[in-house]
Amino acid sequence: MDKPSTLFTGIFGAFLVSTSVMVLLPNSQLSGLQPQIVWEEGQNSPSDMYPVKIEHSLGHRHGERIYVENGCYYCHTQEIRDPQFGPDIERGWGARRTVARDFIYNDTPLLGATRMGPDLGNYGWRDSEGKRLWRNEQPNDPARPAVRDAAFIYKHLFNPRVRTAESNCPSNPGLFEKHDIGAGVSPDAVAVEGKKQWLPTTDARNLAAYLLSLDRSHELKEAPVAKSKEAKK
Ligand code: HEC
Repeated sequence: MDKPSTLFTGIFGAFLVSTSVMVLLPNSQLSGLQPQIVWEEGQNSPSDMYPVKIEHSLGHRHGERIYVENGCYYCHTQEIRDPQFGPDIERGWGARRTVARDFIYNDTPLLGATRMGPDLGNYGWRDSEGKRLWRNEQPNDPARPAVRDAAFIYKHLFNPRVRTAESNCPSNPGLFEKHDIGAGVSPDAVAVEGKKQWLPTTDARNLAAYLLSLDRSHELKEAPVAKSKEAKK
């Protein structure tokens, strides 16, 4: 290469093109995204709005931070793929594919790094009567827990291998503390040792509340609920 200017033009050009395609273009397409709002005629407030900001309370944010601090996103995604790219919906991980609008209130969307564990982006998914729908294995499936509530999450976090012998999900004893049994064993206790019981810390409680708040099943115009491949009931 004779002329250094050619080299610099090349480097600058490559930088300019990649910045435009990977930063400026997506920013112009997505930065203005608003919640999907439905107005009924004659009403002065919306009849439906998604996503809503309510879930981003202090406890929710704290739970999200614990999720990040413990590296949960290394193995768990929060991104349901379109049925043509993967069987996420068939596995009961969500009602529809995840889209950018789902994350407008998240500072950092926790899309995840690998799919070593199940997608948790809809872990708190429930129907209009409050019935939990995530995964929802067949009733005769030995892996099906009676209910996926906070107490179940605590047991799973304390030792995932109690239910799934070969589980790769790490145990998180640091999220639990030993307390005196006192008046009786708490329903949230994950283990009992003599006169002591292991109880979830505030971190564990907020982490469970965060997981149970994750529900991105609301229909969006750009992501209709996948009727044909609905989660197995
Ligand atoms: C090394 C990878 C890995 C990491 C890190 C990890 N998990 Fe998991 N997780 C898994 C695997 C694999 C499964 C599926 C087997 C099972 O159910 O135990 C799973 C299952 C789960 C489930 C589903 C249980 C159910 O309802 O069936 C939850 C909830 C969960 N993990 C939460 C977490 C949280 C919270 C963290 C961070 C504190 C975390 N995981 C970190 C691999 C991981």
